Amino acid sequence: MGEVRVRRLQDADAVMRAAADRFVARAREATARSGRFTVALAGGSTPRALYRLLAGGPDRGSVSWENVDFFFGDERAVPPDHPDSNYRMARETLFDPIGAVAERVHRMRGELPDLEAAAGAYQAELARVFGVSGPGALPAFDLVLLGLGADAHTASLFPATAALDERGRWVAANEVPVLSTSRLTLTPPVLNAAAEVHFLVTGETKAAAVASVLEGPRDPHRFPAQLVEVPHGMVTWFIDGPAARELRHG
Ligand code: 6PG
Repeated sequence: MGEVRVRRLQDADAVMRAAADRFVARAREATARSGRFTVALAGGSTPRALYRLLAGGPDRGSVSWENVDFFFGDERAVPPDHPDSNYRMARETLFDPIGAVAERVHRMRGELPDLEAAAGAYQAELARVFGVSGPGALPAFDLVLLGLGADAHTASLFPATAALDERGRWVAANEVPVLSTSRLTLTPPVLNAAAEVHFLVTGETKAAAVASVLEGPRDPHRFPAQLVEVPHGMVTWFIDGPAARELRHG
């Protein structure tokens, strides 16, 4: 298991500032080393503030945005202009303000009627951009951003869903009965191949999930975020006070 760091910060603003600082540092490290930075963005509402800060904050000029390959950790089964689209949220808060290079924004095509085909197409895009294929090969992101649901799901790896056990494919069309829908999601092997993973978690509604994932019994089918362990890298939890409230340690 890789290194896990838990950073408890005063409030949501402090979480976003700390996460933005580390994002920028990681981007600069990766770009200096390999000429590019590969990142998988989180969806939902929490990361909005981070993306806005990256796009408009003091560090905006510190990242060579033209060398960043943006991917997504998951996507809803909706078109890219739908209010629920993770792509739309990232476009509005980050891609448009920074003038992201369209060819380097790799969108999951949630609008396709055949979500399995969309998952396969995304895997092919990952293979193309990362230049990896074949048995055992995995795309290794420089950074993966993740959120946490109140039910301890992350990306679209929800409790008791099939994608939790996916160890071959890199992208799954995951049926989520509790939401009466399916979603596209990166699978555990891809998340765990990353060099660095950041969980961004704020608000008291997440306190029980944070405590279960970090201090509860190991039970990834109940607490899917426990699957994220990046054996060769680092997981950092950026958590504000309310979300950390039920933690016993640290
Ligand atoms: C999504 C996310 C999902 C999200 C959590 C937390 O598509 O919704 O990938 O895993 O990170 O549900 O969502 P909030 O940030 O909105 O609380």
